[in-house]
Amino acid sequence: MANQMNRRMFLGGLGAAAAVQTAQTATATSAGSAKRVLIVGVSCSPRKGKTTSTAVQEALKAAQQVDARIEGKLLDLGGMKISGWGAETEDDFATILPILKDDRLGGLLIGSPSYFRSMSALAKAFLERLAVLRTPKLLLADIPVGVLSVGAYRNGGQELVIEQIQAAMLCHKAMCVGGNPGAFQGATLWNAYQDDITKDEFGMDSARKVGTRVAEAALKLSGNA
Ligand SMILES: Cc1cc2nc3c(=O)[nH]c(=O)nc-3n(C[C@H](O)[C@H](O)[C@H](O)COP(=O)(O)O)c2cc1C
Repeated sequence: MANQMNRRMFLGGLGAAAAVQTAQTATATSAGSAKRVLIVGVSCSPRKGKTTSTAVQEALKAAQQVDARIEGKLLDLGGMKISGWGAETEDDFATILPILKDDRLGGLLIGSPSYFRSMSALAKAFLERLAVLRTPKLLLADIPVGVLSVGAYRNGGQELVIEQIQAAMLCHKAMCVGGNPGAFQGATLWNAYQDDITKDEFGMDSARKVGTRVAEAALKLSGNA
């Protein structure tokens, strides 16, 4: 009997808690309905506008289709000079930093070509420079990050590159996400058509799935879902 009472009281308490939570969620949703959520897509190929950039743009496009509040911005590092940590005099990092510090930042997409089964030197330099977003405060904490990689071979190290970038982003307490079903680890693209990556239907689909997943997570984590 005592057990039954306790259980009833417990369930009643749960119901009340659920009601409060629902009310809070509704308030947050209506209050946040006008809030814009910025998703920045970074292409880390030295070749501006090539396959990695196209893949990142496809992911951004899919992210924007998730919700009207999502705003996508491409940062194509191709042609920019981004030095690694400790050698940063007179490079272009300062021009992109304000975008990464935007307080509407809700998600990140990072794309790199596979170079000898690793991320590009440009991707590594970019990631090293993100160190400035770690102290004094972890500015990228709880930001969902999806990763894309392009290789000239079907199995050219794309998944290794994705893991390397995710490992770096975990140092920010960022929320590494994969893609929606079919692209669980991230976007893997195959540059088998002389730089026309749009012909890699599987890969482009994986890019869209990562963009969509990052957008969904960004909305949830920013309290907008
Ligand atoms: C130095 C170098 C190393 C490469 N190593 C690999 C590799 O290990 N695996 C692979 O699949 N493709 C490799 N590639 C091919 C690129 O990943 C591929 O062409 C990719 O599409 C380039 O991206 P981009 O078009 O955005 O520049 C390599 C290319 C270069 C220049």
